Amino acid sequence: MSLPADVISTFAARFNEAPAFLVRAPGRVNLIGEHTDYNAGFVLPLAIDRALWIALRPRSDRQVRVHSLDFAETAEFELDALEKRDAGWVEYLKGVAWALQETGYALRGWEGMLSGDVPSGAGLSSSAALELATARAFTSVSALPWDPVEMALLAQRAENEWVGVNCGIMDQLISAAGQAGHALLIDCRSLALTPVPLPPETVVVVLDTATRRGLVASAYNERRSQCEQAAEFCGVPALRDLSLAEFETRASTLDALTRRRARHVITENARTLRAAEALRRGDAGELGRLMNASHVSLREDFEVSSDALNALVGAACAAPGCYGARMTGAGFGGCAVALVAAAQAQIFTVNVADAYQAATGIEPRVYLCQPAAGAQVFLATLGG
Ligand code: GLA
Repeated sequence: MSLPADVISTFAARFNEAPAFLVRAPGRVNLIGEHTDYNAGFVLPLAIDRALWIALRPRSDRQVRVHSLDFAETAEFELDALEKRDAGWVEYLKGVAWALQETGYALRGWEGMLSGDVPSGAGLSSSAALELATARAFTSVSALPWDPVEMALLAQRAENEWVGVNCGIMDQLISAAGQAGHALLIDCRSLALTPVPLPPETVVVVLDTATRRGLVASAYNERRSQCEQAAEFCGVPALRDLSLAEFETRASTLDALTRRRARHVITENARTLRAAEALRRGDAGELGRLMNASHVSLREDFEVSSDALNALVGAACAAPGCYGARMTGAGFGGCAVALVAAAQAQIFTVNVADAYQAATGIEPRVYLCQPAAGAQVFLATLGG
């Protein structure tokens, strides 16, 4: 059974009626533009056809009760008495409720069923998907307007201030505003969104190293502060404001490590803009070359890759049909992304899986992705 059918039928079994709403919000993969969002720069992600789904109905009180099919667990909280706990999936829901109420929105309680197929902890933004699905649930039952950019900012605030993860805006914004068949060029300063089609006859393949690294948050925060130091040293608000030539003139006395970190961000912004141009021309070869260069920069200058990611990217680049490949997301484990000729996608995945397993002894997971729409709501009249 499909996921939406699952949440609808388990809802119907538990509540003896069809849900009032069905909402979904997708995970994402970033084609290029890594560690640029918190430098006010450019990113080029797409929403993927893996999502979190919630079937729900409003309650007459201010309570929220959600059953997660994946965790086989029911969570509940009161909108008038939101309290932080240490961890757990329900913190994302509470955080979004908190951010919506902080903004002044009057919320109604609801109850429902939740399930998803975005692998968690893989770097495919299952947290952002959960936040945006929750935002869709609240806006639906409370009859609030849906503005994708506003909701992405609220979800980011929930993640930063409630969950305590200092992420940029990319994941929430693509989960909120993705467009089927397209990647989105996002200007993370103005939040302008420009849809760009994927090259014809290509497919985006997500390759999961099946490795997870601890301490990602502290390494991420360290990179963020190195970038801020570099911008301050150069006298600009953000690294986005520097060309490579300007940076090299101004940063000649900056320490070598911080200089390398900043060089990644500055060159990555330029690559991302060129990648969007290449996509507009349908030039898969150029996009692939830029992805390869991005990986080298993340590995050498930003130092957020890992042996497993390098092995997987190496295997991908050597496989038939590959235009380019790179690590994607925060790094230190998780996933790589490859752009592959559609006609060779099957042989590509077999080759990469074999080569990676031979090199590391680990079996990778492979997902062929279609660019999907961002968070949506459906009147769930099909249930029952
Ligand atoms: C994580 C963060 C994003 C972004 C990427 C790196 O996914 O949540 O905001 O910074 O890392 O590009």
